[in-house]
Amino acid sequence: MDIDRAAFRNTMAHFGAAVSIVTTEGPGGRCGFTCTSVCSVSDEPATILACLNRRSQTNPIFRRNGIFCVNVLGTGQEDMSAIFAGQTGEKMAERFLHGTWDALITGAPVLRNAVGALDCAIAETKECGTHTILFGKVAAVRLNSEREPLMYFNRTYHHLGGACMTYRDGHSQTASVS
Ligand SMILES: Cc1cc2nc3c(=O)[nH]c(=O)nc-3n(C[C@H](O)[C@H](O)[C@H](O)COP(=O)(O)O)c2cc1C
Repeated sequence: MDIDRAAFRNTMAHFGAAVSIVTTEGPGGRCGFTCTSVCSVSDEPATILACLNRRSQTNPIFRRNGIFCVNVLGTGQEDMSAIFAGQTGEKMAERFLHGTWDALITGAPVLRNAVGALDCAIAETKECGTHTILFGKVAAVRLNSEREPLMYFNRTYHHLGGACMTYRDGHSQTASVS
């Protein structure tokens, strides 16, 4: 049974998600794309997934290189998200002129002031509808735990305004994070 595509997309738009730039580098070239479809799969071995549109210009490059890095963006990095979503019209090489890029184990570009980075070797790919699921075995991680993540919800960027603590007796307290 097929459901209405617009209804599905509208519902998914209400799933708040962290925003990442997923990058790769190697014989296929260097590229990256803005991505919210990152998910933890397993912690033994440490494995994550990211879903990449089959029609994206970057799709064959990720396959050829066999590696990727998920760079979790922080507040104030909305411009980087727009750049790597292709919304500024910059060519791929020009996009990497923004920000400072390092490498960890695989050689995929790691954004220095991101919230975190998960550097992966592609363990498996699976085609599903419009997208390719990239399963990545995590080879290295980097975390800037003092940074706040950039969130995407209802087609807009958001910042986490406060952290809500719920105690065992059921009472809640919202702490403001500036
Ligand atoms: C907030 C946001 C989240 C996105 N998430 C994904 C995603 O999970 N997977 C994906 O393939 N494209 C995603 N995109 C779209 C890509 O970043 C990019 O715009 C698209 O792949 C077009 O790239 P192309 O120039 O390679 O065709 C997202 C874009 C934005 C702005």
